[in-house]
Amino acid sequence: MENPVVTLKQASKSFVDGKDTHHVLEGVDFALATGASVALTGASGSGKSTLLNLIAGFEPLSRGELWLDGEDTSAWKDPQWSRFRHQKLGVIFQQFNLLTPLNVKQNIAFPLHLNQQKWGEWCDYLVEALGISELLDRHVSALSGGQQQRVAIARALAHKPKLLLADEPTGNLDHKAGLEVMRLLNEITTQGNTAVLLVTHSPECASFMQTQLVLDDGELKRADLNQKQASDISYVES
Ligand SMILES: Nc1ncnc2c1ncn2[C@@H]1O[C@H](COP(=O)(O)OP(=O)(O)OP(=O)(O)O)[C@@H](O)[C@H]1O
Ligand SMILES: [Mg+2]
Repeated sequence: MENPVVTLKQASKSFVDGKDTHHVLEGVDFALATGASVALTGASGSGKSTLLNLIAGFEPLSRGELWLDGEDTSAWKDPQWSRFRHQKLGVIFQQFNLLTPLNVKQNIAFPLHLNQQKWGEWCDYLVEALGISELLDRHVSALSGGQQQRVAIARALAHKPKLLLADEPTGNLDHKAGLEVMRLLNEITTQGNTAVLLVTHSPECASFMQTQLVLDDGELKRADLNQKQASDISYVES
């Protein structure tokens, strides 16, 4: 695969709890190409959030390699991780994690400030596409769940990241609102050429992504072998 944004090689993650070692991920091989999209499903506790946390650098790998945008992260310290997160990563959390003292526009502009960028046409497009352009002066705490989720999406994508990690972004929305958010997410990330790794429990939401994978017993497996557009996702059986 040319220019993968993310590559995991034989990645394992264990948590030590007293005398017990809990192996969550074992020998995961995964690569995500520029602009490609993958849905990750799996039972509760199977390690989906753990996998996202490894890729975002919130948790270290126990074994294996993580490459981000062509760089081996094994020697990265805080400055390298901060640079990657500020410039190239967008994250959508299930609980939104919006900055509640701020209004909608200030929330969306937050990643721009971290990169010394200004609000531009891309942000105008984002808020228009997400239907929140009328809400820019409102405080985020006064918004509905669906509106807050749209703001969270805009904030995650304001700086046009190369990689979006989304952990159950429609988990708090009703079915119709969830599908609409997925449609918008798909449209915007395609427009911005952002690679997406989406965790979801919903097969319908997963179907918006080019490839569906499932975490099962610490291993990553293909969820749908009939996928047509899987050519730019490399997935290696371990
Ligand atoms: N920081 C941690 N310390 C110890 N154990 C952890 C930690 N983070 C996750 N785990 C364990 O790893 C396993 C996988 O957790 P994870 O949150 O990745 O699951 P998940 O697939 O995201 O589940 P869900 O669908 O419920 O969100 C669980 O058994 C969890 O208890
Ligand atoms: Mg989770």
